[in-house]
Parts: sequence; C-alpha cells; structure tokens
Amino acid sequence: MTTRHIAMIVGSLRKESFNRKVAGVLAGMAPAPLKLSMVPIGDLPLFSEDLEANPPASWLAFREAIAKSDGVLFCTPEYNRSIPGVLKNAIDIGSRPYGKSVWNGKPAGIVSVSIGPLGAFGANHHLRQVLMYLNMPCMPGPEAYIGRASTLFDAGANLTDEATKTLLGKFIERYAAWVEANGVK
Ligand SMILES: Cc1cc2nc3c(=O)[nH]c(=O)nc-3n(C[C@H](O)[C@H](O)[C@H](O)COP(=O)(O)O)c2cc1C
Repeated sequence: MTTRHIAMIVGSLRKESFNRKVAGVLAGMAPAPLKLSMVPIGDLPLFSEDLEANPPASWLAFREAIAKSDGVLFCTPEYNRSIPGVLKNAIDIGSRPYGKSVWNGKPAGIVSVSIGPLGAFGANHHLRQVLMYLNMPCMPGPEAYIGRASTLFDAGANLTDEATKTLLGKFIERYAAWVEANGVK
C-alpha cells in the first residue's frame, strides 16, 4: 500500500479555531494509506504579481509543500458568506506563476465549519467553484457542513458529538478512496 501524503489547509488563523480542531479529528481518524499534515498559511505575504520576480521564501515553501502532496483537504470557516481572505490568498499564491499551478490535478476534499447553523455552506460552495477552475477533482460527497461548532467539543477540545464523528469518519474513508481513484498517476 502506497502512503498518500495529504496537505491539510485550515482557513482560520485563530488559536482556538474550530476548523483546526476538526482538522485534527480528521487527521486522527484517517485510514491508511492517508497521512495528513497541516500546511500553514498564516505567514504568507499578500499576493502580488510584483513579488514574483523574487518570491518570498514562505511562498516557495508553501508551493513546494502542495506540489509534493498527493491531495489537499480544506477545512474552512465562512466569512461573510465566502471563504476567508487568508485562504484565498494561499490559493492564489499556489496558482502562480501562470502555467505552474501546484493545485493542478490534486484530489480535493472540503469540510466547512461554522458556529452558525448552516455549517458554512456558502464558503464550502465558493471554495468548490475556485477548485473547479484550478482543475482539482473535488469530492462531491459526503458533503460536510459542520454547524453549531461551539457545541460539539468538550473543554479539552475533544469532539463529543457522535453524529459529527460519524460524518467525519465517513468523509475521510470516502476521501481516501477518492484520492486513489483521482490521484495523479
Ligand atoms: C469576519 C467574520 C465573518 C463571519 N461570517 C460568517 C458567515 O458568513 N457565516 C457563518 O456561518 N459564520 C460567520 N462567522 C462566524 C464564524 O463561523 C466563526 O467565527 C467560526 O468560529 C470561525 O471558524 P474558526 O472557529 O475555525 O475560527 C464570521 C466570523 C468572522 C470573524
């Protein structure tokens, strides 16, 4: 069985981020052969094509981390019915220079997490639209809209909600199969 290295990107920089907690849960339940590793996006200078002549070291490291991955798993909050700017910035950085996008062909999965009842549905689907443009085969289901996130964890940051555990378990099992079926050969 070949190990599949999956880059996890969390669209929140908040220390107590629920999205980061969910990402941790997914990493803990991922079946072999998946190996999930967080790729941080908080120190990436804002994208400008002017910087491309001498790209920041953090841009190059980020691009390299995505390029060598076998797939990308996103956990994103919703900010004003879309994805946070910090996540879009990271996506834009990975998409350039033109013709050298590191996202191309990487099988993607999306989990969206919100304290609101809709589970960041809007952000989830805005992200899907962006990933389609980047030619990332994006797993259609099970859809994972995790709402009311502040009620799902105990004080020790353990996920205590059984229905959410079951959904995330199904999600990551199906994502493993998605990577095998849609990965770069
Ligand atoms: C600028 C901003 C905009 C937000 N807009 C939305 C929104 O459109 N929909 C929603 O469900 N929650 C919204 N929220 C609340 C987030 O769901 C909540 O802050 C969540 O905990 C963020 O994810 P995190 O815990 O991973 O940081 C917003 C929060 C902020 C800070």
